[in-house]
Amino acid sequence: MKLLIGRSDKDFAEIGAQYIAKFIRGNPQSLLCLAAGDTPLGMYKRLVELQHQGEVDLNSVYYVGLDEWVGIGYETKGSCMQVMMDGFYGPAQIRPENMRVFNGLAENMEEECAQVEQWVADHGGIGMTLLGIGMNGHVGFNEPYTDPQKSIVLHDLDNVTEQVGKKYFDGKSCPTQGVTIGIRLLSGAKQVCLVASGAKKAPILRKSLMEDPTVAVPASLMQLHEQLTVIMDQEAFRAL
Ligand code: GLP
Repeated sequence: MKLLIGRSDKDFAEIGAQYIAKFIRGNPQSLLCLAAGDTPLGMYKRLVELQHQGEVDLNSVYYVGLDEWVGIGYETKGSCMQVMMDGFYGPAQIRPENMRVFNGLAENMEEECAQVEQWVADHGGIGMTLLGIGMNGHVGFNEPYTDPQKSIVLHDLDNVTEQVGKKYFDGKSCPTQGVTIGIRLLSGAKQVCLVASGAKKAPILRKSLMEDPTVAVPASLMQLHEQLTVIMDQEAFRAL
């Protein structure tokens, strides 16, 4: 496990952007699975700047969405799709044919999951995944006690996720189900990167990295990955 610590918000964003850019340069054509959420947004902004500076071609790889709230789509502020379109895919000018994200409004969610799984298989599995950590230790919407053998999972959301999730919806209630790339496909990635920032994430980061891997804390399962990098800021690092 490699730990990288950002000394400021800017440094945290820079470390993450450089990590992603390096992976893309070394693995063109591969598939990236990038988390939505607040934590990596500065990294994506900096990554787009790196593209403008000619340091990376963000269209030389493919993307699969990590997760989505079930029952909402792009037009709902707070959807993972909107967060990622505004925060990354749009500014980076990612070609639509280079990406496949979950449609939370799909009428047949089983079929939607099967299509996303096929997209991952067609691109040789996940090359690199960058994962935020939920306050309950979730990665994507792999909630505590998720089945680690599943490739794609439709989950009823944990109370913690529902409470914390209000921050994406202007304080209003959020959907009660989520769909996500499962632990099986995430663990199969060539490289896994966990990102965490802020004092509020320090206790769950500690559990995820310093206690035995357990399905009770899905992020902790990533300890088992041989190519795990963890990028954190000083506040999140404090509890380690
Ligand atoms: C959210 C999302 C994840 C995200 C995680 C952490 O609920 N489902 O994709 O990585 O929780 O979010 P944040 O970075 O806002 O703390």
